[in-house]
Amino acid sequence: MEETMDQIVSNPPHAGGTVTPGQRRLLEKMPELADCHFPQVRDTVPATNYTDPARYEAELAAVWKSVPVIAAPSALLPEPKSFHQVTIAGMPVLLTRNKDGVAKAFANVCRHRGMKLCTSTKTEKAPRIVCPYHAWTYDLDGKLIGLPRAEIFPGLAKSELGLRELPSREAGGLIWVGLDPEKEYDFSTVDGELAEDFDALGLGTSYLSHYATFPVDANWKLVMDSMLDSYHVTRLHKDSLAQFSVDSENQIDRVGPHIRNAAHRSNFERKLITDRHDELRWIMVFSYIGFPNGIIVVSPHYTSLGVVRPIAVDKCAVDYYLLAPKKPETERAEIRLQKSMDLMTQVFGEEDYWAAAMCQEGLSSGTLKEVQLGGMEVQIRMFQDAVTECLERAKSA
Ligand code: FES
Ligand SMILES: [Fe+2]
Repeated sequence: MEETMDQIVSNPPHAGGTVTPGQRRLLEKMPELADCHFPQVRDTVPATNYTDPARYEAELAAVWKSVPVIAAPSALLPEPKSFHQVTIAGMPVLLTRNKDGVAKAFANVCRHRGMKLCTSTKTEKAPRIVCPYHAWTYDLDGKLIGLPRAEIFPGLAKSELGLRELPSREAGGLIWVGLDPEKEYDFSTVDGELAEDFDALGLGTSYLSHYATFPVDANWKLVMDSMLDSYHVTRLHKDSLAQFSVDSENQIDRVGPHIRNAAHRSNFERKLITDRHDELRWIMVFSYIGFPNGIIVVSPHYTSLGVVRPIAVDKCAVDYYLLAPKKPETERAEIRLQKSMDLMTQVFGEEDYWAAAMCQEGLSSGTLKEVQLGGMEVQIRMFQDAVTECLERAKSA
């Protein structure tokens, strides 16, 4: 569990940067808890957004294949000569960090007969990758560097059979990937203001303490919605997070297609606001939606990153990463992170993702034409609009 204020005061703060102008704008608008006014909003989202297979297919093309998506945190590949594989929206992706420390992404597909090249579920440390089928071997820049009995492939040019590279960008502690190797991607939306915010939060220098993948029987947007909804926090999480949370008049803005959010913790007072993240994270919560599939939530001792990967109209997976500012140096710090992981497994796995799956079951029955949104769910509207903008852009292209 997280700590009390008394324990907080006796703990040395960890490294943290200075708030960015965008973060400061939200801080300036945060009212005292007693002065919170919740926006009054009536809005709806069509239920078919979550259940229609045709809409899902359209989203794969217009969102998942068209904009950069988050593949993993940089902290998953902390060292040169390492690699990791993950399948995102049907595309097997191989993430590598080459000998010079540069992160790259490739289709995780062997150029010989198409086998998925890396099948490990862990980050591997090696300078090359050997296909398990016939042992074609690639370096971490995707070059085909060897194949057994090369003479039986007369005229084969190794230089022409490297792995298909996917456009990628490492920024703000995240590795963003374009899932279509044929397309040009606009990375300016991920490496400007958004990356500056994440750098200020220390995401790029963080240590990967724990991670786990959760399969969820829900449309990917239902998981995103569950993170965009400040209405449920003290209710669904009444036995877990609620003790640290209050109904908060969230301050929200958009950074391009992404969402930046500031919420109160229960001990928030305006006079405690500073420009240092190591102090702020005790009194309020910065959270972000990295469009389309990342959820970043700042806690006092760690930052949570959820990466959502669609699998079918009613199925997705969430990779949950618990990012600590540094490797724990004491047993106490290690235990604290393990307890945080246990708490987050409950909060996300057993509460949020469970709620998303139960909504999928309810919505798939066809009972509702639309779902209702109130004043503490306005971020859901923003997110749904960002998805719809992608669909409309694709239609008019
Ligand atoms: S499929 Fe990879 S070496 Fe044959
Ligand atoms: Fe939640």
